[in-house]
Order: sequence, then C-alpha cells, then structure tokens
Amino acid sequence: MFTGIETLKGRDLLSLADFNASEVLSLLDLAAHIKAGQVKPHCPKVLGLLFTKASTRTRVSFSVGMYRLGGQVIDLRPDATQVGRGEPLEDTARVLDRYLDVLAIRTYEQQDLVTFAQYADIPVINALTDLEHPCQIFADLLTLQEAFGRLSGLTLTYLGDGNNVAHSLLLGCALVGVNIRIATPKDYQPLSDIVEKAKGLAGDRSSVSVTTDPVEAVAGAHALYTDVWASMGQEDLASNRIPIFQPYQINASLLAQADADAIVLHCLPAHRGEEVTAEVLEGVRSRVWDQAENRLHTQQALLASVLGAQFE
Ligand code: CP
Ligand code: NVA
Repeated sequence: MFTGIETLKGRDLLSLADFNASEVLSLLDLAAHIKAGQVKPHCPKVLGLLFTKASTRTRVSFSVGMYRLGGQVIDLRPDATQVGRGEPLEDTARVLDRYLDVLAIRTYEQQDLVTFAQYADIPVINALTDLEHPCQIFADLLTLQEAFGRLSGLTLTYLGDGNNVAHSLLLGCALVGVNIRIATPKDYQPLSDIVEKAKGLAGDRSSVSVTTDPVEAVAGAHALYTDVWASMGQEDLASNRIPIFQPYQINASLLAQADADAIVLHCLPAHRGEEVTAEVLEGVRSRVWDQAENRLHTQQALLASVLGAQFE
C-alpha cells in the first residue's frame, strides 16, 4: 500500500540535486502505479502556476495532475497579476504563501526561484528556469524505464545546447545510475559545476562525459535525446545557431550508430529539420509522445508527495 514518499512532504524542488536517488526512484515507482491505475492519491489542495515563459506540456500536465488529485489550480499569469508590474518577488512570495498549498514557477533566473522559496514556506517547484528543468527529467526517466525495464547501466546521449534540460539530465541520470554523455558545440557546453556535481552523484556506479564529438557520443547509446537549439528568450539567436548545431542533429545516420534498440527522446516542442529530422521524430524509435504523457503521471506523483496526499 502506498503512503506517498514521506521525505518529500513539504519539500521544495529547485534543482534535481535536491532529491536523492531513493527519492527519485520512489517517485518513478509511484508515477508508474498512478499511470497503471493501481493507486489513486487524493489531495483537495490548491496549486498556483506562476509562469513568465510559454508552456503547453508543463502547464497542462501540472493542472490535470492537480485536478486528478481532487485539487484546484490558479494560473497566475504575470500580465494579469502585480508580478508583471514589478511587485517585489519577496512580497509576492509571502502573500501567495498565505493562499496556496504549492507553487510551480517557470522563469528565467534560477535566483528568482530561490528567492521565492526563501520567502514562501509552501513547496516551490521549478517548472523550468534557464538553469534547470527537473520535472522534465522525471518523465524522461520513466520513459526510459518503460522502454528497457531498467535504468541502471543504460547510456543516454544528449545532443545540442548544454543548458537547462542538459543540466537536469546530467543530475537525474547520475542519481539513478544511467551513463550520461553530453555532446555540444564547444561554446555551448554545460556548466562545469553541474558536470562536477553529476560526477559526484554518479560516483563509480555510472559515467558522466562531455564532448564536442556527436559521433563518438552516440556510439552504442540506448537513448538519443535532444532539445531546441535556441531556448525561450534566445529566439533572436536561432538562425545564427543553425550551422553551429547542425552536426548535432538527430537524423537517421546518427541514430544508426546508436544501440540497435535505441530510442529517441525530445522534451518538446520540436523543430523538425533542425535538432531532429521529421523522419526520426515520427519514426518507430521515437518515444516522444509517451515521454510527454509521462509528464502528467510523474508530476501527479510529485504533487501527491510534496502535499502529503491520502492514498486509496
Ligand atoms: N517540455 C516542456 O516543458 O514543454 P512546455 O514548454 O510546453 O511546458
Ligand atoms: N531548453 C528549452 C526547453 C523547453 C521545454 C527552453 O528553455 O526553451
């Protein structure tokens, strides 16, 4: 019988490294049971969504996850609140803390998220910053586990920009024993302190490597993963980046050098013909729709855990 993950109750999730390996694996297990309809957590509380960037998957999966718990959601659009008119974050955080039970924030600066968490006692969840996207990685790991029946010992290769998704993948894969290889152009590598943190989390259970060579990085990998070449807020850099990132495109010839059973993942939204070809994204190896669905189940498990839901 599930009781939720006791140690996650009341906790913030600012970085994937805030959780330990056992908490991440328990969260995946709970999400799998929720997905299979084997457990039904109940928690009639209120989630606030404070997103200063666009979102389809994260916004809708958090909302549906909360509704399925019997709770409610308030969309705190910055243009409809005083946030967009410059009310200090510290003041907004202290006020929202008095109304809401949990708050998911999507913004640019990681420090803004940290400030919210300092001033609000309710759980504050990172729904994407320029530094990290931890909730995405729970869905990615569940998708890997479903495809291969295990996590430990698999190798995942991420190709593209070494920013938020790559950072959280480094930490998440290292935590659960997935070998992680990151291949980026030389000026787009992940932050070295995150790479070092991932190496520390992986210990001698799994490997963490960063390279500029996409061919070397995909050899024998069980999963190839990519993300847009220009993230939200970088749209004006997009056309300049295309030739720089072209060698990192996931296409049929790169995929042919991965493991024979390799799957393809993408956090979405995708730009067909840039970071991934339409043929690969729509092909038999692609698991991107399962991956997107798993955002719902993993975030429902996360909300149930941080809110201390009742389980039927
Ligand atoms: N993958 C992801 O976070 O998608 P959205 O930007 O649509 O939320
Ligand atoms: N790196 C992308 C991820 C989108 C889900 C961005 O930040 O826009």
